[in-house]
This record gives sequence, C-alpha cells and structure tokens, in this order.
Amino acid sequence: PRTAAVIPAAGRGVRLGPGAPKALRTLNGTPMLVHAVRAMAASNAVSLVVVVAPPDDTPSVKSLLTDLALPDRTEVVVVPGGDTRQESVRRGLDALPDDIGVVLVHDAARPLVPVDTVDAVIDAVRDGAPAVVPALPLADTVKEVEPGRGPEPVVATPERARLRAVQTPQGFDRATLLRAHDAIAADGEGATDCAGMVERLGEPVVVVPGHEEAFKVTRPLDLVLAEAVLARRRA
Ligand code: CTP
Ligand code: MG
Repeated sequence: PRTAAVIPAAGRGVRLGPGAPKALRTLNGTPMLVHAVRAMAASNAVSLVVVVAPPDDTPSVKSLLTDLALPDRTEVVVVPGGDTRQESVRRGLDALPDDIGVVLVHDAARPLVPVDTVDAVIDAVRDGAPAVVPALPLADTVKEVEPGRGPEPVVATPERARLRAVQTPQGFDRATLLRAHDAIAADGEGATDCAGMVERLGEPVVVVPGHEEAFKVTRPLDLVLAEAVLARRRA
C-alpha cells in the first residue's frame, strides 16, 4: 500500500506573535511549510503529500508548492483547512485516494524533522502497529496543578522517567485513523493529537524514538533555534 503524508498547516500561529500564518513564516528565507513538505518528500516511501492550507491562502500555497523541485515520486495536493487542527486533519484525510494504506500526520510547525525519524515511524506501521508516535523523554520535571489565579496548588508529580513528549509525524494504518476520526466526530469531543483519538478507540499506540530537531516552532525563541539548526546543517 502507498504512504501519504497529511500536513496540517492551517493554523494562525497566535503564540508566534503578529505576522503571516505560521506555516508561511520563513526560516532563513524559506517558508516553514516548504521545509515541512521537503522533510516528508525526503522519505522514499512517501508518494503523496496533502497540505492543509490556511483557507485564505490556499491559492498562494498552491503556487508556492508547484514551483518546488521534489522527487519524481512525490505528488502534492493542497486543500483548505478548518477552525481546529482536528478539522484540518479531517479535510486532509478526505482528500486521500483509495490506494493509500499508511498515513502520516505531520505538523507544518515541525519543519526540521530528519528523514530517519519519518522512516522509523513508517517502518513501525508497516510492521503492524496501527498507530505510532515519535517521542522523547522530558528534560523538565512535570507537575499537575489545580489551574487558577495566583499560586496554583500542586496536585501530583508524575514519575518523569515514564513520561514522553510526543512529536510528529505520527503514523497510522489508514482505516484505523479514519475510524478514530469518525468516533470522535460522533461523540462531539476534541483531541489534541491524532494518536489520542486512536487510544480512545482502545487500539494500541506505540512510541518510537523522536528527534531533537523535530521540535515544534511555537514561540518566537523557537524561530531562533530553527534558523540556527538550518545554519548548522549547511555548514
Ligand atoms: N493547524 C491547522 N489548522 C488549525 C489549527 C492548527 O492545520 N485550525 C496546524 C498548524 O498549522 C500546525 C499544527 O496544526 O502546523 C500544530 O498546531 P500549532 O503548533 O498549535 O499551530 P497554530 O495553531 O498555528 O499555533 P497557535 O496555537 O499558537 O495559534
Ligand atoms: Mg494551535
């Protein structure tokens, strides 16, 4: 079965501050989305990339991506996104042709994920895992608090060694991911990542090693780090 990558890129990037939608902000002169598309197309296994664009910018994203030099095997499709990440992913899934058996979902906001991480996720799905997430151990200790104004009471301290920070691309057996999306839509709930939806189905989700360079560009300091990583790669 063929493998496709869906790239949700329709977010505004509120935490990054004022400016263009986050996926269109540049890193060393190249839009983050272009880096993310190249990162997916770098895998020999990926033959289709579905980009879910900010609705108002769909035409400009289409022209931006037609001019890209990508491997011959790689087809790129652009569809408009929705109000939430989940809705955007759904629109990307709806654009997949029938012969796709493995689906990656990859944040445009993680433009620098190395191809070895992408391939490790695909391999784990091909080996039979219905849902695979790349993840790293945490550097910081994590506290659960009772959220509120003023000093927040600590409720618990989960054992750090058992926690993982999850990244993308997350990889799925296509039918499992579609079932998970349908189930969530039916009960009207939301989820912050696709693997979480699969967990709610009661299907197994496994973790493979993530990579430091797959970090998410969220706040302004992350732009500084991303540009430094790119400069180091070129050196
Ligand atoms: N995303 C999307 N559609 C939305 C919201 C988010 O496709 N309605 C995408 C973003 O473009 C991003 C990924 O989901 O690639 C992860 O989301 P996040 O890092 O939160 O990006 P934003 O939502 O754009 O940022 P913020 O939350 O700071 O506004
Ligand atoms: Mg967001």
